Amino acid sequence: MGKLKINGGKRLEGTLAVQGAKNSVLPILSASILIAGESILKNCPDLKDVDAAMAILRHLGCQVTRSGKDIYIDARTLTTSQIPDQLMREMRSSVIFLGAILGRTGEAVLSMPGGCELGPRPIDLHLKALRALGATIEERGGNIVCRAEKLRGAAINLDSPSVGATENAMLAAVCATGETVITNAAREPEIVDLQNFLVKAGAEITGAGTSTITVSGGPLGVQVTHKILPDRIVAATYLSAVACAGGRLELTDIVPDHIETALNCLRNAGCQIQVVGDRVQLSSDGELRAISPVVTRPYPGFPTDAQPCLVAALTVAQGTSVFIETIFRNRYRYVDELRRMGADIKLEGRAAMVTGVKRLTGTSVAATDLRGGAALVVAGLAADGETTVGEIDHIERGYDDLTGALRRLGADISRLA
Ligand code: UD1
Repeated sequence: MGKLKINGGKRLEGTLAVQGAKNSVLPILSASILIAGESILKNCPDLKDVDAAMAILRHLGCQVTRSGKDIYIDARTLTTSQIPDQLMREMRSSVIFLGAILGRTGEAVLSMPGGCELGPRPIDLHLKALRALGATIEERGGNIVCRAEKLRGAAINLDSPSVGATENAMLAAVCATGETVITNAAREPEIVDLQNFLVKAGAEITGAGTSTITVSGGPLGVQVTHKILPDRIVAATYLSAVACAGGRLELTDIVPDHIETALNCLRNAGCQIQVVGDRVQLSSDGELRAISPVVTRPYPGFPTDAQPCLVAALTVAQGTSVFIETIFRNRYRYVDELRRMGADIKLEGRAAMVTGVKRLTGTSVAATDLRGGAALVVAGLAADGETTVGEIDHIERGYDDLTGALRRLGADISRLA
């Protein structure tokens, strides 16, 4: 597994176009199974998770090609409804294929996604939604076997607004007869992107972005072209990096509203921020101050995925910032690694108390998960001396050419094979 070597303490300056969103392209790749012709997806980031999703589509019998940032999928040749264990393991979000495969073929057989680096990731809400639409679900030999001769529109109330369960419910409901109303739905921008893709294909769906989504089942069109929305978490990562290393950053191709909570935190920490159209400019002298408590919440609250990078930035702020993580239990695994760099962070259950130190010191650390790994890069960019970040496969699941982007800003960072 590769490593990143960072010589920290360099001021960062420049302009970056933000990549397409991982969490949007994955469910839309799954949705392409439902299209009776070619799907052309633009602005697709080049990521390990996207490769894994493309491998799953190919295994299912779809024709899939990539040309630069465009991915072409033709699902008319789909031949199987089973995803083998090895492909399921390559991507933690592969459960997102469940609703679409079931909807398209009347059956889906997937191995259990199992635990992951953020703690057990249950799929009870996904299964409950599919059952409501008429699916029978059995667990057999480590596999989930989902079957439905006919899916029927239903009222689905999610016990909590799970992003993946909302997406699976939407994808299966498109194939059901009649109307489905999903209440307590997740409101993330990526759900709106999924709706936009499906609507372009002729689906009748309204309400994405609110807590109630209404889907009328019906056949989908033959060709769809869709541009994946910008990645708000990647945007927050680069902003956090420049906030603590110091410098000036202009991000282009983003939807500033999607990162409003992160922008507010960085403003409170002392950064100068301007929003102009689809651009955000941040300047920071690297002298940050502690901010009022940050509680991670489903959108439009502060995103759990942006928590690690903001924590990393605030390890060098004056004063103590408190974070409360309410979404994933194991989201603080990277904290031990930050401590090795000299960070002062106390953990108490869901709370992290981050007391700023004058400087972090470069050392050898290892990524524990995707966003936790990105946080170590953020810290390494601000730290004195050399930081090596190991286990970077985690980071490459979600960041397209992170090294190249940071080098363009003037960072001294390289990837060691
Ligand atoms: C998605 C994102 C991930 C992000 C997360 C929360 C993708 C590919 N991934 O993950 O980056 O961190 O949203 O914003 O879009 N839960 C259950 N039962 C279920 C499903 C979820 O209890 O059936 C719980 C989870 O354990 C977690 C919470 O609900 O505590 C939120 O999970 P969910 O919104 O489903 O996250 P994902 O869709 O897995």
